[in-house]
Amino acid sequence: MITVAATAANTTTTISTLLAIATSFLLLLITSSPTTPKSSNYHTLFLSTSLSSNVSISNHLQALTHSPHIASSEANSQAANYVLKVFTSSNVPSHMASYHVLLSYPLSRSLLLTTTPQEPPFSFSLKQEPYKGDPYAAVSGEVVPTFHAYAKSGTAEGPVVYVNYGRVEDYLSLRKKMGVNVSGCVVLARYGKIFRGDIVKNAYDEGAVGVVVYSDRKDYGGGDDDGGRWFPDSKWLPPSGVQVGSVYQGTGDPSTPGWASSGGDGECERLTKEEVEKEGDVPLIPSLPVSGADGEKILRSIGGPVAEHDWQGSKDAPTYRVGPGPGILNLTFKGQENIASIQNVIGVIEGAEEPDRYVILGNHRDAWTFGAVDPNSGTAALLEIAQRFGKLQKQGWKPRRTIILCNWDAEEYGLIGSTEWVEENRELLASRAVAYLNSDCAVGGAGFNAMATPQLDELIKKATQQVTDPDNSSQSLYEAWTSSGTSPLIIQYTTHCMMISSGCRNLEILCFIGMLQLNVKNLEDEISNKDINLSPILKSIKELEKAAIKINDQRKEIEASKGWRTWKEYQMKVRDVNDRLMMAERAFTDRDGLLGMTWHKHLIYGPTKNNDYGSQSFPGIGDAVRVAKNLQTAESWHRVQHEVWRVSRVIKHASLVLIGQLT
Ligand SMILES: *[C@@H]1O[C@H](CO)[C@@H](O)[C@H](O)[C@H]1NC(C)=O
Ligand SMILES: *[C@@H]1O[C@H](CO)[C@@H](O)[C@H](O)[C@H]1NC(C)=O
Ligand SMILES: *[C@@H]1O[C@H](CO)[C@@H](O)[C@H](O)[C@H]1NC(C)=O
Ligand SMILES: *[C@@H]1O[C@H](CO)[C@@H](O)[C@H](O)[C@H]1NC(C)=O
Repeated sequence: MITVAATAANTTTTISTLLAIATSFLLLLITSSPTTPKSSNYHTLFLSTSLSSNVSISNHLQALTHSPHIASSEANSQAANYVLKVFTSSNVPSHMASYHVLLSYPLSRSLLLTTTPQEPPFSFSLKQEPYKGDPYAAVSGEVVPTFHAYAKSGTAEGPVVYVNYGRVEDYLSLRKKMGVNVSGCVVLARYGKIFRGDIVKNAYDEGAVGVVVYSDRKDYGGGDDDGGRWFPDSKWLPPSGVQVGSVYQGTGDPSTPGWASSGGDGECERLTKEEVEKEGDVPLIPSLPVSGADGEKILRSIGGPVAEHDWQGSKDAPTYRVGPGPGILNLTFKGQENIASIQNVIGVIEGAEEPDRYVILGNHRDAWTFGAVDPNSGTAALLEIAQRFGKLQKQGWKPRRTIILCNWDAEEYGLIGSTEWVEENRELLASRAVAYLNSDCAVGGAGFNAMATPQLDELIKKATQQVTDPDNSSQSLYEAWTSSGTSPLIIQYTTHCMMISSGCRNLEILCFIGMLQLNVKNLEDEISNKDINLSPILKSIKELEKAAIKINDQRKEIEASKGWRTWKEYQMKVRDVNDRLMMAERAFTDRDGLLGMTWHKHLIYGPTKNNDYGSQSFPGIGDAVRVAKNLQTAESWHRVQHEVWRVSRVIKHASLVLIGQLT
């Protein structure tokens, strides 16, 4: 479905702005019908401070984040009850949607560094230091030890090699430029650029036996720009701070791929540990995250060639070399994987005109630690939105479509709570969901950004034009955004949702066509002088353009015309156009998904094979081209052509849906 993720900032003052933005999306989507003459009044009221002050949202954030609340902990269950209570008391009928899923926790960890055979190995403490005066020091003991969720249990020992960000191109440099082979080594990678699960997978593919990932000062520690300061004096990670996270490459409960972990424990089909490993999404070598300080200590033990310039750290860091060795790392991780109970909280405000069309607003609640920014700045906004909807309902407002508020659990482990719910409700969502708006990390520093499927560009523009810049009341957020130097180019968002797609009346499908043409142009450049025929895509884009112009005209006709014979006839027309727009994005998906990433169904944009955080256009073609350039075989180029055909087919499907006629 159409997805939007919005982030606003400037800690306390902007949280209500985010909420306003979030709601602008909803109201634009929901109440833009002429059947609700007073909708603009409700809209204004919704955005006004008269409904409530910033105190309630601040209290929500406090209530959600007073203790560490990792998925399936008692504290997270209490937070779920809090969300349920706020929804319910806002007159939003709500319930828990619980699942039993495979989660992973650390049992024991150790990391030893041998610098010279004469000396005994150095043992890292693997502890994060609370800072002096930390008001939450008393509960810091409840924080789970730093680890990589779903890391392989075991010991790995070998000479250490520094691999920069652990990307495919970094290994290529190591091999081709520096003559370093990481086979049998423990690699040291720095966080950033790519998803940590891909750091581990890429290392495994290169023959490494273990992976240590650290947060480099240059990227996370104030670097050279902020005088080397860190939290609480600045926003940067302290030297002992460690980024915890999942290294699972799939989506949803690894033991129930493609179906919901519903019912009590033991009541649904579940893969064995061996079968889970065969699926290929859990790592097969152990890994550990470490702090910037520990990473630097390991770097000092590495000799060999000096790493290239952009592999280096901040000014006062030691010179980074790539190894292998002479430092030897011995890494041991023992994890416990067990079936645990998680709770999503679901609230439903039934639509007055189209109760069977869903606009979904969601965010997760679970956090590795306290989760003040990620995710609960977004959950606090979600709760504030629920309360404002409650107040609007008291004044007679009803949404046009059904609004579903979702508070997900176990997102940090791999989008588990949302995925299980979607898997369970797949059929209804596939036919009824109009759009999904996500508000993770809603507040976290200055500036505004949003990511969405390209069809929502115009909507985001309109919404930000209606919101006042929290730092300068004489301009709109849109103006602040455009004048900030970062053009409001809306980045395509890789939807992890299985039910990709959909649309709404405000959808501008036409600019999407320009984007498609540009993608083909880029592709042409990339495969010039290869015998690949791109005309099927060009032809399908032409058809799509015609279909888009046609539906745009139909939309304008509906908006302009006042002389409908009956109200019913008008409603049917609107519904028909909306449905076709909604289905168009779904048409870009393909049941078989992307090769090697079958979970991702969208063939126009998606993640790249070696970076789940990345996004690219025509991801299937892009990956096929990379493979073909590497192998240079007729067969591999033939696969590129196959991917070209696949893309041209989904574009054709989209135009057929827009036209709304059978062939
Ligand atoms: C609420 O807003 C006022 C005025 O902008 C500000 O002074 C105050 O610090 C804010 N309170 C919270 C809890 O964010
Ligand atoms: C790296 O070393 C391993 C083990 O010695 C060897 O099997 C592999 O072929 C080497 N890889 C390259 C690219 O040379
Ligand atoms: C690595 O360290 C562990 C102790 O944490 C030890 O049991 C193991 O023997 C070491 N591995 C090697 C290969 O020395
Ligand atoms: C506030 O916005 C107005 C209108 O865009 C602009 O002229 C003014 O310079 C801004 N003020 C500050 C302090 O940035």
